[in-house]
Amino acid sequence: MRTQGHGITTPEKEEAFRSFFEGNLNASRAFSHFLHVDLNCGSGWNEDALCLGSPLVFLNAVKRARRADVGAVFVDQDPVACESLRERLRREIQPPGFAWSVCCQDNRRTLELLLREPERFGSLIADPNGHGRGKAGNGTDYRLLAKVLARHVRMDVAINVNLNLLWQMRGWNRARGADVFKADDQPGIRELIGMMPKEHWHVQFRSPPRGSPGRGFLVLIGRNGVNFKDHAARGIYRVNSPTGQRIIKYADTGRGEHPLAGASQQQFAFA
Ligand SMILES: C[S@@+](CC[C@H](N)C(=O)[O-])C[C@H]1O[C@@H](n2cnc3c(N)ncnc32)[C@H](O)[C@@H]1O
Repeated sequence: MRTQGHGITTPEKEEAFRSFFEGNLNASRAFSHFLHVDLNCGSGWNEDALCLGSPLVFLNAVKRARRADVGAVFVDQDPVACESLRERLRREIQPPGFAWSVCCQDNRRTLELLLREPERFGSLIADPNGHGRGKAGNGTDYRLLAKVLARHVRMDVAINVNLNLLWQMRGWNRARGADVFKADDQPGIRELIGMMPKEHWHVQFRSPPRGSPGRGFLVLIGRNGVNFKDHAARGIYRVNSPTGQRIIKYADTGRGEHPLAGASQQQFAFA
């Protein structure tokens, strides 16, 4: 069974995470004891895209940032993925002071535990298979996530969103006469941003492969405090920039010109 994110755009997603990790690790040197939480860590290696998964991308960012005060909690409910990740991490050169643990559990439990922690600073990523909580429990409980971020105001967030799933749910709910996008359990993109207590938002849009009917994917990055510039080489734009606005409109309505039309760099490049 394939549980990792798959598809041709996965390396771009990892680049968005890399940009998020590096930006945060570098911008927060004034604080010590950085905590990183990965709610959907996977095995550390993406079999479909043949690229490093988010935990290894984070580890490399820590090495590059040369910080010695970083802890990471990697969470996945799949025991096989957890064991593979543990093995991979043990084989890696560990930066000094880097402490990690892999927790095999429903990430809802992790969020509940974080609610009881004293305030921490750092980063948190959600890279689920679903959108919203999802019947199968394989999405993200956005309401709970928003509470956690309200408690840990200096913990920045990156959320990967599969627009195909978001639009599938929109179709199902229209068919049933319900407007799920008013419900914060399965929000549209604007609602999702509105739910999370973060001041500044960036977005990366990944087009579906040419000729594919898919709607693509987004990484949303929310921060408090320091705002970052666009990182066009990695396709990352401020949500309130013209390109960012086009992306959000397209993601929520399917309307408007191509989100990256007129962007300074249309094709993703490994910068
Ligand atoms: C798209 S993959 C993650 C890929 C990984 N972040 C990477 O960059 O390689 C989604 C992962 O979320 C895990 N997952 C799904 N629902 C979960 C839940 N409720 N709690 C914990 N893990 C969950 C799946 O087992 C799967 O490994």
